[in-house]
Amino acid sequence: MRLIIKENYDAMSKWAANYVIDKIAKFHPSPEHPFVLGLATGSSPEGFYREIVKAYNEGKISFKNIITFNMDEYVGIPEDHPQSYHTFMYENLFNHVDCPKENIHILNGNAADLEEECANYERQIAQVGGIDLFLGGIGADGHIAFNEPGSSFESRTRVKTLTTDTRIANSRFFDNDVNKVPKYAMTVGVRTVMNANEVLIVANGHNKARALQHAVEGSVSQMWTITCLQMHRHGIIVCDEPAAEELKVSTYKYFKDIEGNQL
Ligand code: GLP
Repeated sequence: MRLIIKENYDAMSKWAANYVIDKIAKFHPSPEHPFVLGLATGSSPEGFYREIVKAYNEGKISFKNIITFNMDEYVGIPEDHPQSYHTFMYENLFNHVDCPKENIHILNGNAADLEEECANYERQIAQVGGIDLFLGGIGADGHIAFNEPGSSFESRTRVKTLTTDTRIANSRFFDNDVNKVPKYAMTVGVRTVMNANEVLIVANGHNKARALQHAVEGSVSQMWTITCLQMHRHGIIVCDEPAAEELKVSTYKYFKDIEGNQL
């Protein structure tokens, strides 16, 4: 696993955006050979999306031949709810770039048959040959997408009950009222993320420091689902200084040193 520690949120976001732009450019996506990009919501990747939109406006990236799959969506709130992940994705990315609507995949949290919706999502990912790169964030309790502590590392897209911790954390987007936060969400599984060719995680701020410590130094455990990344053949975490605060000095220095010597 690579760990890139940047001085602040902006530098972290720029690094992640440049990495993805470069990756896509080298892939040379075409209609016959589209790039499949997994995407996330949350406050962590907002800066990443700003950088991507900026790069799009500067002609450095096009979404014409990119197929996207989002990680998760709340169950039971309208698609146009201000806090739905549909709304987030259109406001932060899709309203500003040239991604064809038919290339955009976001789970439907209002589907009549939620199980079928989840199974179909996995089929759609398989049909396009899998995900080339999954961009994600982490929850303070170490969850990836909505794979809360205890999620199986073999899990696939499914409905999950959100923990009280997560509902409290996300209540900041729901008038600080935990009762307004949906109790359930649909999410890709740990295995779905692990099957991507590459996984890039952005983590910033003090409240992610413990999760990052577990991710980098901890044992692989279902109680910190982000630790799955240690078993991925191509996992990268890019973080800011505050998120790195719980790392041992030696770990911090090790990654600073090795990343400083990259070709
Ligand atoms: C939610 C999302 C995750 C996200 C996490 C952290 O639970 N389902 O995908 O990584 O929150 O959010 P934030 O980036 O706002 O801290």
